Amino acid sequence: MTTQETIELFDKYVIANYGRLARVIVKGEGCYLWDADGNKILDMFPGWAVSGIGHCHPKVVEALRRQAGELLHIDNTFYSEPQGKLAKLLSERAFGGKNFFCNSGAEANEAALKLARLATDEGKYKFITAEGSFHGRTFATVTATAQPKYHEGFLPLLPGFVYVPFNDIEALENAFGDEVCAVMVEPIQGEGGINVASNEYLEAIRRLCDENGALMILDEVQTGIGRTGKWFAYQHFDVEPDIITMAKALGGGVAIGAMMATDEVAEKLVPGKHASTFGGNCLACAAGVATIEAIEEGGLLENAVRMGEYTQEKLRELKDKHPIIDHVRGIGLMIGVQLTRQGAEIVDKCLERGLRINCTAGTVLRFMPAMIVTAEQIDEAVDILDGVLSDSV
Ligand SMILES: Cc1ncc(COP(=O)(O)O)c(C=O)c1O
Repeated sequence: MTTQETIELFDKYVIANYGRLARVIVKGEGCYLWDADGNKILDMFPGWAVSGIGHCHPKVVEALRRQAGELLHIDNTFYSEPQGKLAKLLSERAFGGKNFFCNSGAEANEAALKLARLATDEGKYKFITAEGSFHGRTFATVTATAQPKYHEGFLPLLPGFVYVPFNDIEALENAFGDEVCAVMVEPIQGEGGINVASNEYLEAIRRLCDENGALMILDEVQTGIGRTGKWFAYQHFDVEPDIITMAKALGGGVAIGAMMATDEVAEKLVPGKHASTFGGNCLACAAGVATIEAIEEGGLLENAVRMGEYTQEKLRELKDKHPIIDHVRGIGLMIGVQLTRQGAEIVDKCLERGLRINCTAGTVLRFMPAMIVTAEQIDEAVDILDGVLSDSV
C-alpha cells in the first residue's frame, strides 16, 4: 500500500481523535524508524515512551515468538508462569510489594484509585492531585488529571478530587484533612512539561499521608522501568510510596500496565473487587520479563544515566547559541528543553530532517530516547535540532 492509500483507509474507517502526521511507519529497529516512502527517522521519543529499550528489541521479539508458540492468553481463573515471574522481578526492583496487572497506564491508575478507597478507613474518599499532572483518559483518571483542557466537554467529572499546585508544600498542607484517602502525583510530570518533584515535596506528601491515614500513590507510568536511570523515579528521592503504577515501557512495546502496592495495602484487593480480562496475559508478561532482563543484561540503567547527562550537556551547549532555549531540565533520559515560545513548529521541522522529538505543554521540547541510545545518535539529534533552530531565527 502507498502512504496515500493507508491515509485514505484511516480517513474512511478510523475515528479521527488524533492529530496525525502524514507518515506511515512500517519498520522500527533500535532508535530508528522507517516510513512507507523509505525515509529513515532517528526516534528520540519512541512510541510515546513505550519503546523504552528501542524498537523491536531482539530479546523481546524472541520472548514473544517463544511464548506465542506455547500459550498466548489464559484467563485469571488460572495461574500462569510469565505473570508470576514478572511480578517477582518488579517487586524485587521496587519496595517488595505485590502486583496487579492490566493493559495501560490509565487502567493502572484506576486500580490504584479504587484500591486507595478500599484500603483506607471509612469516610476517607478525597484524592489530592497536582496541577499540570496527567494520569489518563478514563473518567476517574481524567478527573485526577488536573489540567482543564482535558476536562472540556466531559463535565461533570467524578466528585472527590482536589487539585493543588505541583511542588507547593503549603498548598498541600492546606488541602489535607480527615477525608483524604490518597495523594497521587508523578515524580516527574511528563505531559505537564518535565517538571521534577522536589525531595521536600515528596517527603511532605509521605509525612502528611502518614499523619492522616492516607496513601501515597506515585504514577510512574512515564518515569518507570529505567527511564530515569533507576528502575523507578521515586528511587532518586528519600521516600517510599504505598502504591506505584506503571505501563508504557514495561512491555518493551507490548501493551501492559501494572499497579504495585505494599503487602498491607494489596491484601485489601480481594476477589470481586477489581479485575481485567487481558490483565497479566502470557504474551504481555513474557515481553515484560524480557524487557527487564534486557535492561539488566545490557547495563541500560547505567547507559540511561550516562546518556542522560550527555544529552543534557549537548542541549545546554545549544542554549548559548539559540536564545529561544531558556533552560534544560530532567533526570536520566527524561529531558525537557524549555523554550521561550511555542515549539510545535520546531518538532515538525525536525521530522522533515529525519528527527523525531516531541513538544509538550506548548513550550517544552521532550527528548526521551530509548535506553540503548548512543552518544553518536545524541550528536546526530542535537545537530539536526541545531540546524532547525539556526534556520528558524
Ligand atoms: C504519567 C502518565 N500516567 C498515565 C498515563 C496514561 O497512560 P495510557 O495512555 O497508557 O492509559 C500517561 C500517558 O501518557 C502518563 O504519562
